[in-house]
Amino acid sequence: MARDARRVARQRASDPSQRLRADDDRHGADHAAGGRMNRTQVGIVGAGPAGLMLSHMLHLEGIESVIIERAGREHVQGRLRAGVLEHGTVEMLREVGLGGRIASVGLEQHAIDFRFGGESHRIDFHEATGGRSAWVYPQHEVVADLMAARLRAGAEMRFDTPVERIEGIDTARPVLHYAQDGAPRELHCDFVVGCDGFRGISRGAIPPSVLKTCDRVYPFGWLGILAEAAPSTNEVVWGCDEGGFAMQSIRSPSVTRLYLQCEPDENPDNWSDDRIWSELHQRLDVPGMPPINEGRITQKGVTAMRSFQSEPMQHGRLFLAGDAAHIVPPTGAKGLNSAMADVKVLGRALTAYYRRADEGLLARYSQTCLKRMWLVQRFSGGLCTMVHRFSGDSVFARRLKRADLDYMTGTPAGRLQFSENFTGLPVEA
Ligand code: APR
Repeated sequence: MARDARRVARQRASDPSQRLRADDDRHGADHAAGGRMNRTQVGIVGAGPAGLMLSHMLHLEGIESVIIERAGREHVQGRLRAGVLEHGTVEMLREVGLGGRIASVGLEQHAIDFRFGGESHRIDFHEATGGRSAWVYPQHEVVADLMAARLRAGAEMRFDTPVERIEGIDTARPVLHYAQDGAPRELHCDFVVGCDGFRGISRGAIPPSVLKTCDRVYPFGWLGILAEAAPSTNEVVWGCDEGGFAMQSIRSPSVTRLYLQCEPDENPDNWSDDRIWSELHQRLDVPGMPPINEGRITQKGVTAMRSFQSEPMQHGRLFLAGDAAHIVPPTGAKGLNSAMADVKVLGRALTAYYRRADEGLLARYSQTCLKRMWLVQRFSGGLCTMVHRFSGDSVFARRLKRADLDYMTGTPAGRLQFSENFTGLPVEA
């Protein structure tokens, strides 16, 4: 790896205007595959937020990448997903020229309103952190912004093309195998990045003797609805009621997203509209605050919850980013933000490799991400446990959860700890 990188750095030093190239004689190696290159510097599996963001960042550094995506472009862009962006994620999107729509249509948030014991307990994370915010900006909007930027730049993206196999990650020339128009194809890369989500194939390319995974499956899920109703306040509300968790999030000034803790395998049809509104009022309304507004329910679905982590997040020339490497429960809104943090670390590491022949950051990628990621797992899993009722909770366990909530919302130290984590821990360069 070092020898290759030094050669690239030498080429670049001798001709600084030269665009960075794959670290072999790529002009000789490239040839048409259905009119498309079959050689690139960074081969990216998956066009979710992680893959698109990495490709965009590399492009800004003059590093070539090709994205291969199993689904069609319309499907990728049509996946509707909620999202709360950390302060650092918004800064990152601004740095790469994609902050415009967040500023115009995103909703800046300064506080969360926790409701329990019949009272409202606000944590003003903006105040606690000296000015950090979170933004309600749905994930599909992030994907739309990234996709538009990639298309504007003429990016090489292959849709409706599942990667079937990854070979040679222990060598200097890993290869992605896929099929196009029924014919087998290969994409030869300097590096492969698995951004193919939890059910992708990349993680499985790491030898079982190396890859360790661990997880926690929670004994409940969330029934999520989208309602044509104005949010009752302009802040996200978490109801930590004895009867179970509930949340009011904001989609727009006239549309609210609401969640109710339910059984993990709950059939949404068991929940009539009346039952949903009655439970939401029970878990979210408190005296002195406006009750949640009811409206026509346009979407209803159940999400199961789990925490999952793979270690390491790299092997040879394969790197995992985003959901391919980790899953967090939605409490804390860390899924997309963690994917962005991985990509930031990896983008910088690949840039250091191609620009300065410095492979130190690449070698430490997994270590750097895991150090932060376990803090994120701790926060997401801890919060999930604290705010939900487990069916087997003893009286003692319930009293401890209430004490945790009292400490978190009622002391400066508790509020600061929540606020630092919620608005996003720093990403190590
Ligand atoms: N070949 C090519 N593409 C694949 C393959 C494959 N074999 N397997 C999966 N994919 C694609 C999926 O079709 C999907 O578009 O990889 C993409 C993975 O995208 P995401 O699941 O969105 O994962 P990621 O980019 O890590 O996003 C992280 O977005 O998905 C949410 O909850 C997630 O918040 C998290 C964030």
